[in-house]
Parts: sequence; structure tokens; C-alpha cells
Amino acid sequence: MRLAVLGGDGIGAEVTREAVRVLEVVAKLHPPLELELCYGEIGLGAFEKYGHPLPEATLEMVRTADATLFGAVTTPPHIAGYRSPILSLRQKLELYANVRRIRSRPGTRPGIDMVIVRENTEGLYAGRERSSPDEAVTERVITRSASERIVRYALELARARGDRRVTLVHKANVLRETCGLFRRVGREVATHYPEIELEDMLVDTCAMELIRAPERFSVIVTTNLFGDILSDEACMLVGGLGLAASGNIGDRAGLFEPVHGSAPDLQSTGRANPLAAILSLALALEHVERTDLAVLVEGAVDRALHTGSVTPDLGGKLSTREATDALIAEIEAAA
Ligand code: NAD
Ligand code: IPM
Ligand code: MN
Repeated sequence: MRLAVLGGDGIGAEVTREAVRVLEVVAKLHPPLELELCYGEIGLGAFEKYGHPLPEATLEMVRTADATLFGAVTTPPHIAGYRSPILSLRQKLELYANVRRIRSRPGTRPGIDMVIVRENTEGLYAGRERSSPDEAVTERVITRSASERIVRYALELARARGDRRVTLVHKANVLRETCGLFRRVGREVATHYPEIELEDMLVDTCAMELIRAPERFSVIVTTNLFGDILSDEACMLVGGLGLAASGNIGDRAGLFEPVHGSAPDLQSTGRANPLAAILSLALALEHVERTDLAVLVEGAVDRALHTGSVTPDLGGKLSTREATDALIAEIEAAA
């Protein structure tokens, strides 16, 4: 496995380093995983050094790797023209599906197992913005082709999971053109999946239902910004940002990252939870068809939660490094 490792800024670099330690342990198990690690620069650090947050060499590294593990980047709002390099990566490499699984874990609310599938290349993130002193405009771009491929992805995922329902989340009562198209195309695609019901839900109702009855959801498919917000909300039901992992999947590349950001408030304190990055590594292992190793890592995380061998955000007393050591001990005991 050729893994591109992009730590990025703040705790991004700190937690990614811990995930790599876990990878080096599981790679030695049987059958061994041949490992080639390559490290790339990205984010504010790269911008300060090269004048660009996403150097061409990094882009090429992600393009040619079997999978990429990304930490987080800091995106200061005050630098004119600065664009978050994770958005550039998602768009340039057509990593069109942002996939975030939300499931119950030991000590969290029971009965939850859903996946939020978020369109990752357009919508309000299309980058079409303009302003005058008195007016600012962001265009929301929804295309038939991107809507088709994301809804198809969600339906295929539901089929693979054995789910009977996919919830398409929109705001077509107000955003009549953009959400109207997304919803219409979704219904067309769903006719090819007669065994799956495509349920329709307004985004504000969905935000409420996620708190009221999260057990009712299986796969949610939605547009870019709605998926961003709903996934942060949903992850709080099952342990919070310290446990939330995600995949950015395209037809030619896969990039895996914790949902959290660079958390400047935690940088260099040794308190960052490494588990979201480690669970993102598990998704990368699944992507290269080492589901056996992914399952091992997932199981070890659940046992660490069970024994309270975790960082302060989850009520534990361990540092970033100690939490990883505890996890590695769990993996070695189970292997
Ligand atoms: P954040 O996710 O960095 O932090 C939000 C809160 O969660 C903070 O209180 C933080 O301490 C806590 N937290 C986050 N990760 C944690 C972890 N692993 N363990 C324990 N606690 C954790 O969001 P923010 O503070 O709004 O943003 C900070 C910077 O990160 C901004 O520049 C933002 O643009 C960027 N950001 C980047 C990404 C990304 O790179 N994918 C994602 C979100 C935010
Ligand atoms: C995420 C983040 C990014 C997003 C930011 C950092 C650009 O919040 O991955 O969820 O909005 O997609
Ligand atoms: Mn987000």
C-alpha cells in the first residue's frame, strides 16, 4: 500500500503521526501489508513557505497513491483569495462522495448506525463568489451529473449495507431551482433501485429528527453545505469530533480524514484525541481491501472506549500519545 500522508496544520499533524504509528503495527500482522509511506506538505504552513497551500507535488502524490491520510488545515478567513486546500483537493481530484458513518459506540447513545453521504464538489462550495461594498453573492451550483453520481453512490451503499431506505435531504421549498433539480434527479436515479425507498426530507426537519430519533436513519444523501453541517451535528450523538472519521471518495482516488479541524486551542497540549485520525486510517485500510485490519482497529477503539483509555474530550485522562499506546496494546492483544 502506497499511502500519502498529509498532516497539515495544528493538531492535524499531531494526530496523523499517531495514526501512522498504528499503521506500522498493523502492517506487520498476518498477512503483512507492504507499506510505502510518502509525506506531503499542505495548509497554512505550506502557504507561508511556498506561497501556495497545495503544492503541485502534494497534488500529484495524492493522485498516484493507493490512499491518502489527511490531518487538518487552518484556513484563516482574513487572507484575501486564500482557499482551503482540502476543498481544492476534493474538486481537482473529483473526490465526489464525502462519506461519514455515525454509529453507536460503547458509552454513547445506542441503536444508531447511519451514513451521511455528502456531495463534495459543488453546491455553495463551487467557489463562485463576488462582492461590492454593499452586496456579497455566493452562487449555489447544482448539476445533473454530480447529483446523479452522488445519489447513485448513496443507493449503492444502501444496497451493500442491506438498508431499505435512503433519505434525500434538501430545501426545495425555498431553493426551488437548485434543490429542485437535486431532488428530481434523485428520484429518477432511485427508479433503478426498486427495493430501496427514497425518502424525502427538508434539511431543517432532518436537523431536528437527528436529535429526536437518530435510530430511524440509515443512509442520508444531501448537498455539500447541508452535509457539512448535519455531519457535525450527528457526530455529537456518538462521542463527538474526537471519534468522527470520513472518506472523500472518487473514481480514481480516496482521501481519508478526521472530521475535525486543526483545533488551534489544543495544539501542542498533548490533549488532542487521536481516535478520529486512527478511525480514518481504518477507512483507508478498507479502501485498499484490508478490511481485516480495519475491523481490528475498529474493535480496538471500542475496547479503549469501554475501558476509558481515552483523552479528556471523552472523559479520560490520557494524552494523545498515551491513548495511542493503549490502542496499540489492544490491537496487539487481539491479533
Ligand atoms: P475544530 O474542529 O478544529 O475544533 C472544534 C472544537 O472541537 C474545539 O473546541 C476543539 O478543541 C475540539 N476538537 C477538535 N478536534 C479534536 C480532537 N481531535 N480531540 C479533542 N477535541 C477536539 O474547528 P474550529 O475550531 O472551528 O476550526 C479551527 C481551524 O480548523 C479553522 O481554521 C478551520 O477552518 C479549520 N478546519 C479544518 C478542517 C479540515 O482541515 N478538514 C475541518 C474543520 C475546520
Ligand atoms: C469539513 C470541513 C471543511 C468543509 C472546511 C475545513 C473547508 O468543515 O471537512 O467538514 O467545510 O468541508
Ligand atoms: Mn465540516
